[in-house]
Amino acid sequence: MNAIEQIAAIEAEARALLAAPASEAVLVTWQNGVFGKNGRLTVILRGLGTLPPEERKSVGAAANVLKLSLEAALARLRESQKAASLAASAADALDVTLPGRPLRRGRLHPVTQVRREILDIFARLGFATVEGPEVELDEYNFGRLRIPEHHPARDMWDTFWLDEEVDGRQPLLLRTHTSPMQIRHIDTHEPPIRVAVPGRCYRYEATDATHEWMLEQVELLAIDEGLSLANLKGTLQEFARQMFGPERRVLMRNSYFPFVEPGVELAVDCFACPGDNPACPVCRGAGWLEIMGAGMVHPEIIAAAGYDPARYTGFAAGMGVERITMLKFGITDIRDLHANDLRFLSQF
Ligand code: DAH
Repeated sequence: MNAIEQIAAIEAEARALLAAPASEAVLVTWQNGVFGKNGRLTVILRGLGTLPPEERKSVGAAANVLKLSLEAALARLRESQKAASLAASAADALDVTLPGRPLRRGRLHPVTQVRREILDIFARLGFATVEGPEVELDEYNFGRLRIPEHHPARDMWDTFWLDEEVDGRQPLLLRTHTSPMQIRHIDTHEPPIRVAVPGRCYRYEATDATHEWMLEQVELLAIDEGLSLANLKGTLQEFARQMFGPERRVLMRNSYFPFVEPGVELAVDCFACPGDNPACPVCRGAGWLEIMGAGMVHPEIIAAAGYDPARYTGFAAGMGVERITMLKFGITDIRDLHANDLRFLSQF
């Protein structure tokens, strides 16, 4: 084979190789065999000087043209192979046809759902939501609510007392109910007052199916000219119907709380039975479910805040959010609500 024939042969091989791209290893071997130190094209170019002058010109031109075009073609081939392999590994890493991993959808805690529902109902009835401190002064939690020194609620076995003081004021405790916000609110606001106060309360209590050492309450307070027990009853009746269904009947019966006069207890008729089923898991045959304490704000409390009780009257109520949650969802053990077991909580 003379030099021109060799050049043509290399060119033919190159065409075949580029048309159906070989593996990188095959390509490198071939390339070294052509362009390497003793490669076929290198040898031809090196031997140009030994050729007769008329051949030297044509062989030199052909060899150089082939060298340049082959180098360019190989560079292009490598570029496109690189792009293809990048695309392939990206496709490996992210298979868009795989079904996604579903995110577990969260939900509101049943007590949160019910607290929000309670506050929504009272908001529609004109009550603004306000909040007070969980660490409270004995004076607000008991004294100004007319709960006397000897009252059993003040016993150390019923209340969590704190050693600290705030602005030199003591004793401090974890509030046992949301009623102290009644005092804080009338001290700082003028009638007409209509507020709902949600919040956590604490009691030093042995826990059982209906008692926890922490509970949530919503307190209601209305102070205005001319408010009567009828306003209290109408407000609570409307609340009970919105909460437990329009056909619910409410029962108000006499009760006692030191900060109201008269004091009442509000019950709704059982929504789980006709009222006469001793085996009913919700009312246990009582037919009525107590849902809150309430009453007309004691005139001494109104006077102590600086208002004339002959002109201003008011009503107050306090309800346990867990209790209403349990009634609404048919939950029988209050401890399940705060045990943080998602298998339980995600049912509601
Ligand atoms: N604070 C009372 C309790 O925790 C509930 C209560 C009763 C609140 C009567 C009131 C009320 O506002 O008028 O047991």
